[in-house]
Amino acid sequence: MAWLPGIACVAILLLASAVSAFYELPKVPVEPKGYRLDIVPNPEEGTYKGRVRIDIVNRGAEAVTELKLDASSNLTINDKEIKLIRLANADLSEEESDEDTPISVNGVEVKDEEIVLQCSQKLQRDATYQLDIQFEGKFGDDPTYPFFKSTYTDAESTETRWFLVLSPKIDEARRIFPCFDKPYLKSWFELSVSHKRSHVALSNMPILDQANVSRDGEMVRDQFSRTPLMTVNSLGLFISDFKMPEVEYLQTDGIKIGLWGRSDFVSTLSKAQQLLPSVLVSLELYLSRPYPLPHLNLIALPSYTEERPRNAWGLQWFKESDLMNSNSYWLTHRVAKAAAMQWLSHLASPVNDSVVTSGLANFLATNVAQQLEPTMYHWNQGSFHTLVLELGKPRNYGLDSEQMRTLLESRVQLVVQMMEQVFGPNTFKQAIQNFLAKKEFKAYADDDLWQVITEQAWVDNKLPSSISLSDVIPPWLSNRIPLVTVNVYPENKTVTFTQDKFVDNLESIWNKVVKKESPEKTMGWWLPLVVAEEQQEPKNVGWMTPKDHTVSFNNISTSKYIIVNPGSTGPYLVNYDTESWKRLAAEMKNLPVTQRAQLIHDSLTLALSGHLNSVTALEITASLKSEQAPEVWRTFYPLAERIRDRFQGTAASKNLDAYLKGLLIPVLDALGEEDKSSWKTELRVRTRHLLCQTGFSPCIDNARLSYALWQNASHPDDGMPIASSHLCPVMAWGNYDEWQFALERLKNFPTNRSKAERTFLMKTVAGCPHDPKKYETLLNLTFMNRKNNKFSDEDRFIILSAISGESIGYTTLFNFLKFNWNDLKKRIQGPLWDYFVQTALGNFRTEEGLKEVTELFNERKSEFGTAIKTAEDSIGRVENRVKWAKESTPNVEIWLNKTMEASWTPQRFKFQDVVVVSHTRKMA
Ligand SMILES: *[C@@H]1O[C@H](CO)[C@@H](O)[C@H](O)[C@H]1NC(C)=O
Ligand SMILES: *[C@@H]1O[C@H](CO)[C@@H](O)[C@H](O)[C@H]1NC(C)=O
Ligand SMILES: *[C@@H]1O[C@H](CO)[C@@H](O)[C@H](O)[C@H]1NC(C)=O
Ligand SMILES: *[C@@H]1O[C@H](CO)[C@@H](O)[C@H](O)[C@H]1NC(C)=O
Ligand SMILES: *[C@@H]1O[C@H](CO)[C@@H](O)[C@H](O)[C@H]1NC(C)=O
Ligand SMILES: *[C@@H]1O[C@H](CO)[C@@H](O)[C@H](O)[C@H]1NC(C)=O
Ligand SMILES: *[C@@H]1O[C@H](CO)[C@@H](O)[C@H](O)[C@H]1NC(C)=O
Repeated sequence: MAWLPGIACVAILLLASAVSAFYELPKVPVEPKGYRLDIVPNPEEGTYKGRVRIDIVNRGAEAVTELKLDASSNLTINDKEIKLIRLANADLSEEESDEDTPISVNGVEVKDEEIVLQCSQKLQRDATYQLDIQFEGKFGDDPTYPFFKSTYTDAESTETRWFLVLSPKIDEARRIFPCFDKPYLKSWFELSVSHKRSHVALSNMPILDQANVSRDGEMVRDQFSRTPLMTVNSLGLFISDFKMPEVEYLQTDGIKIGLWGRSDFVSTLSKAQQLLPSVLVSLELYLSRPYPLPHLNLIALPSYTEERPRNAWGLQWFKESDLMNSNSYWLTHRVAKAAAMQWLSHLASPVNDSVVTSGLANFLATNVAQQLEPTMYHWNQGSFHTLVLELGKPRNYGLDSEQMRTLLESRVQLVVQMMEQVFGPNTFKQAIQNFLAKKEFKAYADDDLWQVITEQAWVDNKLPSSISLSDVIPPWLSNRIPLVTVNVYPENKTVTFTQDKFVDNLESIWNKVVKKESPEKTMGWWLPLVVAEEQQEPKNVGWMTPKDHTVSFNNISTSKYIIVNPGSTGPYLVNYDTESWKRLAAEMKNLPVTQRAQLIHDSLTLALSGHLNSVTALEITASLKSEQAPEVWRTFYPLAERIRDRFQGTAASKNLDAYLKGLLIPVLDALGEEDKSSWKTELRVRTRHLLCQTGFSPCIDNARLSYALWQNASHPDDGMPIASSHLCPVMAWGNYDEWQFALERLKNFPTNRSKAERTFLMKTVAGCPHDPKKYETLLNLTFMNRKNNKFSDEDRFIILSAISGESIGYTTLFNFLKFNWNDLKKRIQGPLWDYFVQTALGNFRTEEGLKEVTELFNERKSEFGTAIKTAEDSIGRVENRVKWAKESTPNVEIWLNKTMEASWTPQRFKFQDVVVVSHTRKMA
């Protein structure tokens, strides 16, 4: 039997050879082998001096005389002191031994971002030279700089203390010191830094040696150990007077773990300190690679506000709130995500700032957190739901680049999660391990990862050999997400699947924006169809190819109910034929939590975007009468708000509120009295919020009672002394005077209080009322009062946006525009005028509204100016909504009347303190 492994080997080789080659790293003639970097900071002056000695080798085909380094023009380079030495070849035998020989540098040219050196001799192939450069630089003063100094106030002494952070992103190291600033070049680093003895210096590696610089021993110089091969972007340094919490923790495999914070904050880091060792062990097991360095230090940085931690090898900087003791699940998740980057962006490192790397880290973090904190309630579906909402919009409005990145990162995570489900956890894990084995101490491109996973899936027979993830993945990460429609035909025992791009048909006049293409011509997705038949395990029944618009199967049961993409593991929506939805509505009670949440989400989303009859979706929600899982409620709330919004001002709105009230009151009861459990607090706030909107009187009474405390406060402008959740109900259902009081607070808002608080107050004052007089007062004040300088144009945008979210609000806005047309046109121009027109015209849902809007449009057609296009778009949007409401409202009304007439005993239950979440996403 000895020949068997050989055959298997050949088979693997054949398969592997079918994969296209790894990303080819760009060639540079002269490579750095290692850096000796000495830094002498002068924090008082905000400057530093430095010296770098770089060992370089000419790996090119030819001898060269010119050397190019990256260096920012902001560095002061002492070009007279630049030296070049040919290093003695240590490998030579005794007789042949040579010596270090200096080589003169003939010319130094400092260009924008480069230093170009002309050497007097050719640099020979494969010989090692050392380049020695002295330089000076300045610290930045905030985290947008790769090397910055910042300060905080020590709580006890009230002194101002400083700290220094060095952590270059890709292409930023050149701003700190002259180097070969390419993310695919890996070298070792020996860093030394001097500082006061009272400060602590942390870097990638532990301190090898500390020496006194000044005679009194006040100033010391730390020499750090040599790092493994890494990119220059992995370099990190932190100098501060921060402390570590004094807690006992497990030592893992001799790896030293440190959590650091300012001294009065450090006690809140104890939980992260305790969690980190098991997080590292979990990752080591999953990745089958030990943590690659002797230590890992996580730092809670005051006044750091970026969502993404700063990320060096062996040390990372977080917002203070990210590391603070809090919900164990999310704390574990955050720490695990950062720790996963130690393997994925330093041991192996991406050739650019790849969102695939952070998406994969997010996937691993979820894995670790679910394993370590399985009994915590958590909410993982949120990112998929946000994705559907954003990518369904005909246009992407107003997302900044960081939000786009977050969105893309969750797409990566969801796609990775889908692949894990399709291939099975073992194949997937093996693939990630293979990837690290191939890429450790090397750089990789995104596609390299997809290739390695493909190979393993082929070897394990989990993927047809005609399919490669290099083709599968890219469409999942760009453009829209798929909508799969399932049709079950019992008469001929056929099930068909159709794939389309998901677009919200009602969000705007989408057919003008989204080019309608014939389905045959549009390229779809490589889409793995994962199906669960009744209570059975989900299985992958096949793949749709990008050319398949529809595929049929006759080996899937048509007598049992089926759920496609169970638990929304893949980032796509699923629609069914009417009969199948009915069957699923009847089965809701018997489905696992993740599938109940999925069906609530998909049915309501499809109804709201014009893809599904609203009554069908409401039938699915009927199961909520006995729903006890927080995840399902959490899924339902934002959609319920959108449904309410859609039926505002129509004949169905009153009974819809009554229905929601009937569903939600038992949930509020089940949450019980206030307690410290954070998920309950959050769910309670959300439940109250929605209930208050429906006009639930205990909620309103309670809110007004609290509000009186504020009205009676002696200094009401110092802050709002009540829970912020009480404000909107009072604005909505309270009297004019109560509202007026809040408006006064907004007008008098002290400049030294937080801007976010002011914005919140403004949105509430402008967005919650149900009374035209309140809206008119606000509009008079903010748009007609010339002397008023309390409100900026930015405020006016916020106010318009808030007002237009409410039916009485946009109706008042429309009338205001109509009756003050000339005055308004004189006062506002440009984007603000356009936005006024858009919000005043574009929100109606009724026939009467459409009529009024169209009349005004025709009457003033020639006077819209820049807003003419906006006005046309708005009317198109109203037409769509009216059409939708006309089709949906009568049936919805009948359904609601029938449901409300039927006797319906509200359920009584209590939420458990600890909810064990069942994870059905793994396939056997
Ligand atoms: C160089 O310095 C100027 C002024 O201090 C600063 O605005 C700029 O961002 C710096 N450029 C780099 C590349 O650091
Ligand atoms: C460095 O200075 C400290 C403090 O003055 C002293 O205790 C230590 O012996 C000095 N070390 C050396 C090597 O001189
Ligand atoms: C990252 O590199 C890949 C090639 O490996 C390229 O396709 C992609 O556009 C790059 N992304 C960025 C943000 O530069
Ligand atoms: C099955 O029946 C449906 C409708 O009755 C039809 O549209 C479909 O084409 C049939 N499929 C096959 C494979 O016969
Ligand atoms: C079911 O049918 C599809 C296509 O007709 C086929 O690719 C797949 O292998 C079949 N599955 C089983 C389990 O027979
Ligand atoms: C708004 O201003 C107009 C014109 O000055 C006035 O007639 C109207 O009464 C004001 N509305 C409110 C609610 O104050
Ligand atoms: C539904 O009930 C409301 C009263 O609750 C009634 O005014 C309305 O006419 C009913 N609608 C239908 C379609 O039965």
